Amino acid sequence: MAAPVGFQEATLQGLASDGGLFVPEGLPTLDLPALKGLSYPELAWRVMQPFCDIPSEDLRAICADAYGPKYGGEVAPLRPDPWGHVLELFHGPTFSFKDVALQFLGRTLDYILRARNERCNLLVATSGDTGSAALQSVVGCPRLTAVVMFPKGRVSPLQEMQMTSLLEPNTFCLEIDGTFDDCQAILKQLNRDPEFKQRMQLGAVNSVNFARLLAQSVYYVWIYLQTGQPLQVVVPTGNFGNFLSAWLASRMGVPVRRLALATNDNDIVHRYFSTGTYERGPVHETLAPAMDIQVASNLERFFAMAGGGERVANWMAQFEKDGRIEAPGLAGPEIVSGKATRAEILAAIRSYYAQVGQVLCPHTAVAWHVARQLPQVGSEVIVATAHPGKFPEAVQEALGRPYPGHPALEALRGRPRRAVSLPAQALAVRHWLEGLSPQE
Ligand SMILES: Cc1ncc(COP(=O)(O)O)c(C=O)c1O
Repeated sequence: MAAPVGFQEATLQGLASDGGLFVPEGLPTLDLPALKGLSYPELAWRVMQPFCDIPSEDLRAICADAYGPKYGGEVAPLRPDPWGHVLELFHGPTFSFKDVALQFLGRTLDYILRARNERCNLLVATSGDTGSAALQSVVGCPRLTAVVMFPKGRVSPLQEMQMTSLLEPNTFCLEIDGTFDDCQAILKQLNRDPEFKQRMQLGAVNSVNFARLLAQSVYYVWIYLQTGQPLQVVVPTGNFGNFLSAWLASRMGVPVRRLALATNDNDIVHRYFSTGTYERGPVHETLAPAMDIQVASNLERFFAMAGGGERVANWMAQFEKDGRIEAPGLAGPEIVSGKATRAEILAAIRSYYAQVGQVLCPHTAVAWHVARQLPQVGSEVIVATAHPGKFPEAVQEALGRPYPGHPALEALRGRPRRAVSLPAQALAVRHWLEGLSPQE
């Protein structure tokens, strides 16, 4: 096990030197009545402060900046609907929930690096939204360079344009001839070499970075404070990061009625929570591509924090070798799960539009479908993770007519593109990174 480190160090390192994930030694209990009525930036500051070895007023300024102008005042609005609310997390610069964490993380890293007079190369594996959100998070931060690996031809065309049209001096895209899991395996492998990691000043902003989970846990506290009801949420999940953030909030004292996770056909997490067996399967291409993965990295954290203890390192080694482990009995009864097939995603988009007059993105539609399948126990919150305009093809297929999308996204079509094609080999990415010249 790697030696314990503080928040700043864990944020810089992303993955620990032994290839494992950082988890907090303990969790604070939130003073919920004292948080009532705070604005989103102030709530973020107060929730994250106990974790962060950053002077309090500096952290407050980081939160004010991350959740200020780029959000225009609406970080996480709750839109009422007939079943409760939809938490709209897509009001940031890339129209995805990833911005909530990454706008915070970019500024926090910049702050840490400035204080140390250091630089950092953020290497990112993305199945969709993380890439553009990571690239946007370093804009204007000369101490950071973002290098995004995405699986060639497997992210939505608009998401790809959001990444490859950004031509900043410190943003780069690598299109990898493989799947998202290949990209993630390359990321892990390169991080496992301590000499390379240090020489290349590698950092991570994937949801393996604990700071991201922490920043996401804030909106679950926000839901509780806004609704005044114990949390009852349905979270569309792939890498298990967003769901783990909800679980973290519950562990910090937010009352919970039910935490539901929703997957697409890539249902490894749903299968784990239904059977106790965590077993890799083939990756299916779906209409909710950001969740097309079969290895849910953050489950390792759940194992560690939910009582797996010493067994977790062995489990992870066994999973890597055999693609299968048994780890039953860790989830409390508040956790439930479900999945949505391609046909069910399309039907959910259609049905929600017919009943409410609003369009859901396919990931959010997965959550809404699962919500309808579960026993109905009163008002609940669907976590909307992306603007539907990011997935116009799926929406058009569902509604059976052209869908105008989002004007800011449509404006990207035809813009110049920059991306380097590489095979799915760690060595190829390693060589490319070694050729990067430091930004001044
Ligand atoms: C739009 C969208 N929804 C849901 C998810 C799943 O989030 P997580 O992988 O943290 O579970 C992602 C992840 O990339 C996403 O981009």
